[in-house]
Amino acid sequence: MTEPESTAAPVPAYTGPSRVLSGVQPSGALHLGNYLGALTKFVALQDQTECFFCVVDLHAITVWQDPAKLTAQTREIAAAYLAAGVDPAKAAIFPQSAVRAHAELAWIFNCVARLGWLDRMTQFKEKSGKHKERSSVGLYTYPVLQAADILVYKATQVPVGEDQKQHLELTRDIAAKFNNDFSAPGFFPLTEPLIEGPGARVMSLRDGAAKMSKSDPSDNSRINLMDDADAIAQKIRRAKTDPEPLPEGLEDLKPRPEADNLVGIYAALAGVTKAEVLLQYGGRGFGDFKPALADLAVAVMGPIGERMRRLMDDPAEIDKVLRAGAERAQAVAEPVIEETKRLVGFWPG
Ligand code: AMP
Ligand code: TRP
Repeated sequence: MTEPESTAAPVPAYTGPSRVLSGVQPSGALHLGNYLGALTKFVALQDQTECFFCVVDLHAITVWQDPAKLTAQTREIAAAYLAAGVDPAKAAIFPQSAVRAHAELAWIFNCVARLGWLDRMTQFKEKSGKHKERSSVGLYTYPVLQAADILVYKATQVPVGEDQKQHLELTRDIAAKFNNDFSAPGFFPLTEPLIEGPGARVMSLRDGAAKMSKSDPSDNSRINLMDDADAIAQKIRRAKTDPEPLPEGLEDLKPRPEADNLVGIYAALAGVTKAEVLLQYGGRGFGDFKPALADLAVAVMGPIGERMRRLMDDPAEIDKVLRAGAERAQAVAEPVIEETKRLVGFWPG
């Protein structure tokens, strides 16, 4: 028998509880983009919904990671979550590899997702570059594992930066196809991405057309979570801009990507809109604006870096958080993977 056809008929919606899941790879130092695009949202959500924040080490090894460093990198991301204000009493913080159900569900989803869907993923194209045939198979099927991370908790919302939009669409496609193929309407939710706000796409400080990224060879392109006050201020002072003063209106910001980015960063750090920033700084030059932005960035980011350094001096404490988080996560993931396997028809039914 061939697999079931998808139907256009309306299907019952998911009726389970709201849950939030997100993850960050332990593959290098975190930067302001990760902070504004992801971590600040984690902190806001933990008071509203049950939250799961993992350190996605299974994703990290889709490209080579030195085994001697990976454990420390995992602790570093956990420290960043804590330093940014994620409270382990409220949200579960854990390493992805410590909850086996992620990998198990990913395999099942590998058999649900279609090659054609993965062929469209732009992140794979970017990361594999010119040498696709030398990439790991894991890098190709990376978004399927991401869908498993999310759906093994039946997460209804996922806070991420804009670069993850396509992976979240794939997650919905996989959930819908699974529910349809296994006659389990509403079993997996159609997860909503939470991407809005000026921090969802922070650009490089050296190039307004490139995303701020861990992998940019220029350290001046990003503000790292661990940068000290001097480094933060200096990188902002040196950020690429144009010679014009800031405009009064948002429309005039659009053709000026570097200016737009700095205004967006200010807005995200201050918790206001870009329009509000322009109300205050419109008509003023970067000679005024950059020092104000540097002061704000140092005030917000400086203490986070300090907290991170303090936390990393005590790996045993971080491990305690990770262990407790993994236990909580397991308790939610286990019944979901068990029911999924039953639906697929695995023994003993
Ligand atoms: P990664 O470091 O790739 O694991 O990303 C962790 C989180 O940070 C994800 O939610 C990304 O979407 C988000 N993120 C990464 N870079 C940026 C950026 N430049 N601007 C906004 N969000 C970002
Ligand atoms: N792919 C994400 C990134 O590179 C990390 C990630 C893995 C993730 N699993 C996830 C994000 C689940 C949100 C939900 O940024």
